Amino acid sequence: MSRAEYRLDQSRAPFLEGLKQYSLDKIIPFHTPGHKQGRSLDPGLQSALGKLPFLLDVSDEIASQAHGNDSEKVLREAEALAADAFGAKTTFFLHNGTTAGIQAMLLAARQWAGHNLPVEDPLREDVVEVLVPRSVHRSVLGGLILAGLAPRFISDTWDAEWSIPLPPSPDAWQAAAAESHALAAYFDTYPNYYGIAGHLDKTADLAAGGDKLLLVDEAHGAHFRFHPSLPPTALSLGADASAQSAHKVLGVLTQASMLHVNNEELAALMPQVLGILQSTSPSFLLYASLDAGRRQMAQTGKQLWQRGLELSSSARERINRIPGLQCLGEEILNKPEVRFWDPTKLLIRVDGLGLSGSEAEARLRAKGIQVELAGLNHVLALIAIGDGPEEVGALVRALEELAREENSCRQSAPAKLSQLPRPGEMLLSPRRAVLSPRKEMELAAAEGEIAAEAVLPYPPGIPVLVPGEKITAESIDFLQGCRRKGIEVRGWANTSRETIWVVDID
Ligand SMILES: Cc1ncc(COP(=O)(O)O)c(C=O)c1O
Repeated sequence: MSRAEYRLDQSRAPFLEGLKQYSLDKIIPFHTPGHKQGRSLDPGLQSALGKLPFLLDVSDEIASQAHGNDSEKVLREAEALAADAFGAKTTFFLHNGTTAGIQAMLLAARQWAGHNLPVEDPLREDVVEVLVPRSVHRSVLGGLILAGLAPRFISDTWDAEWSIPLPPSPDAWQAAAAESHALAAYFDTYPNYYGIAGHLDKTADLAAGGDKLLLVDEAHGAHFRFHPSLPPTALSLGADASAQSAHKVLGVLTQASMLHVNNEELAALMPQVLGILQSTSPSFLLYASLDAGRRQMAQTGKQLWQRGLELSSSARERINRIPGLQCLGEEILNKPEVRFWDPTKLLIRVDGLGLSGSEAEARLRAKGIQVELAGLNHVLALIAIGDGPEEVGALVRALEELAREENSCRQSAPAKLSQLPRPGEMLLSPRRAVLSPRKEMELAAAEGEIAAEAVLPYPPGIPVLVPGEKITAESIDFLQGCRRKGIEVRGWANTSRETIWVVDID
């Protein structure tokens, strides 16, 4: 975006400025937090962090005269600037990550359904449906439980070559919508963890055509707005709302996220649902970092991401020259499920060296490099605005070294997964399943029971059992197969006994 395209003065950062002013005013604080601007700190904490962050860590008092002693007003100003910069009608700063944004979108969708769908009793938990890809982040399962929504899962395509899920195809969305009864919303992840995104434009058309909501987990897309070579934002493709983890790629503190809303009815519901979900003591440090991170993006985002894109492109070329390694490139766009791709994600296959993702992760760590995640046959490295040629050069050199070492002592091939099992029938809403009485049962004996907790192999972290689903022989076989292959399974009641939680009602 060029500066001329913004409505508001993007050189301002009112929340940050107010916070700084408060510390300069030398007000004596008789209010929370109890460290009183860092006056009394554990020496270990003080030597690790210094006093400065504590000086700015005030709670609900930005008593700067410049801002009329009204932190709420300053926050609204900062959010309006963010809405202008990110292309939203309304933006909410989040202090509990995108997790809070996702759960707020789902709670608000449930309220919206009560007003907009012709259902007799919108309070019944298994009535109002949402379409969701199976590989959703676990905060979505939490949101479905909180909101009492009935998910209709859409299977992702499993890419056995890269051991990653690809987004569901437009046909899969359409088929699921056709089967659905009281559908409130399409919920999509855009892009996924690996920077790969499906046909959100087509999903937006489907949602708009049926007068449904389109809600988007855009946790990994907070930078999209600021460079034309990055994918378009979810809002620009027609989403009603999207939640972005600004902290994942921008210069802001961990847990600082934004919820952007382009639907006025949803926007009006958000203050209440966010008030239910988030702490009443937001960290002003998080808000100040969002305010400043937005200013930085609006003013210099294009240059910063130009550098990030150039660095990732040269790193990709160099990695692809290393024998035994392969870094995913734009050829991914040839897959029919894939419409957009974020080149700043370096997804690197390491099985050509005879290594699994976690083995490569550990070996890179010993060389001073920490990757973002380790999959079955790959590692993922993120390039963001904080990276420079030195850091990226160090990553490539460590990979070259790894390849030299591994080529001389190949190990056994890493575990592989073929297609994931088909989900069992949804017999209860996730909320009812989680709140019902439960009992512990051996996985091997659980066929026909109803799952009370999510159970998933990690990697790839896609649930095989979801609360409320009938447990099938296919799912049991799959999970047992994962154990035999040495893939970690999460969600056990007791890991060594291989028991799971099932619903205990007749
Ligand atoms: C796809 C996806 N959605 C949502 C989240 C939750 O975001 P946050 O950590 O900001 O709460 C994550 C976090 O890793 C994620 O990867």
